[in-house]
Amino acid sequence: MKAVILAAGQGTRLRPVTLTMPKPLVPVANRRLIVYAIEVLKTAGLQDIGIVVNSMESPIVEILGNGDNLDVNLEYIVQTEQNGLAHAIGLAQDFVGDEPFSVFLGDNIFQDKMTELLMSFEASDDEASIVLGEVPDPTRFGIAELKDGKIINVVEKPQDPPSNMAIAGVYLFRKSIFDAIGQIKPSARGELEITDAIDVLIKSGQPVGAYDLKGWWIDAGKPDSIIVANQLVLEELPYTPAPENSDQIEGNCEVSHRVIIGKGSKIIDSVVRGPVIIGDNTIIKNSYIGPYTALGDNVTIENSQIEASIVMKDCEIHNIQGRIDRSLLADNARVSSTHHMPNAHRFVLAENSYVQF
Ligand code: G1P
Repeated sequence: MKAVILAAGQGTRLRPVTLTMPKPLVPVANRRLIVYAIEVLKTAGLQDIGIVVNSMESPIVEILGNGDNLDVNLEYIVQTEQNGLAHAIGLAQDFVGDEPFSVFLGDNIFQDKMTELLMSFEASDDEASIVLGEVPDPTRFGIAELKDGKIINVVEKPQDPPSNMAIAGVYLFRKSIFDAIGQIKPSARGELEITDAIDVLIKSGQPVGAYDLKGWWIDAGKPDSIIVANQLVLEELPYTPAPENSDQIEGNCEVSHRVIIGKGSKIIDSVVRGPVIIGDNTIIKNSYIGPYTALGDNVTIENSQIEASIVMKDCEIHNIQGRIDRSLLADNARVSSTHHMPNAHRFVLAENSYVQF
């Protein structure tokens, strides 16, 4: 079975970060969002993956290439206009051919690996199968109504939700979905909704199965949800003991268990309390790095405190008074302070941002 990952969206809710970095490339615990989807597919033996991008110039193509580094075969499908998820899936028809296939939204991240679902769909009697997760705010999602374990109705962002079971961004289809896509019209937001195409299957009497997600699921579309995803992934870091006699730790330091330190990185006169992940060639000096923080490669943090944040590669943080909390700093952002400020600070910074106060 092949798989398709949809990664052509503009990521408007994550601007300014997504002005220069497509959302699927945003790092969560120092691994790009889209790589989590690829790993789930790989675990279920799905190695032939088509990624829908908005241009062959997309950094996604440049960074993931043909998939060799991840042990998968990647091909790219270009969606020049963002006309909706159903439009994007329709473009993948040549890639998947007549075989069943799975679809992942490139910006969702799951605790559940869904291996059994992915491995058993082909032999099942279902014409489609949809992964569902319970949500507190069903008006923001595609929502499914169930009867006897089958989906009997789906509706996109309903005003009056029939349930709180949301379509969680993982779908299994057969070639019948392409006919269904051909029958739908753009929604009120001007998009061809995959939810409407699934409804066509249901209304024509086809069995559509449901899979209940186990554990957490994050639609990582906004800075806050990326930060939460980072916390949830770091929470699952396996136990590693506090490093002792490491030449990467100098001076008067307190470095706890569950701290991963990349090559060439140094911790000097600092406190690091895990779970924390630190990339390569990063320097932490006279600082506090608190739980649920991910620091990328080539980051410098000096005379500052930071917690529950994502700091991407090549960033610099100097002399910040108070604690930086739940912040997202994209590549090459610089934050520094020249005088005392008593309160915590919070930042969402794009690449090359510069802040001084
Ligand atoms: C899309 C789908 C929606 C689904 C959601 C999951 O919504 O249209 O059915 O519940 O992804 O993340 P969008 O993110 O485009 O608003």
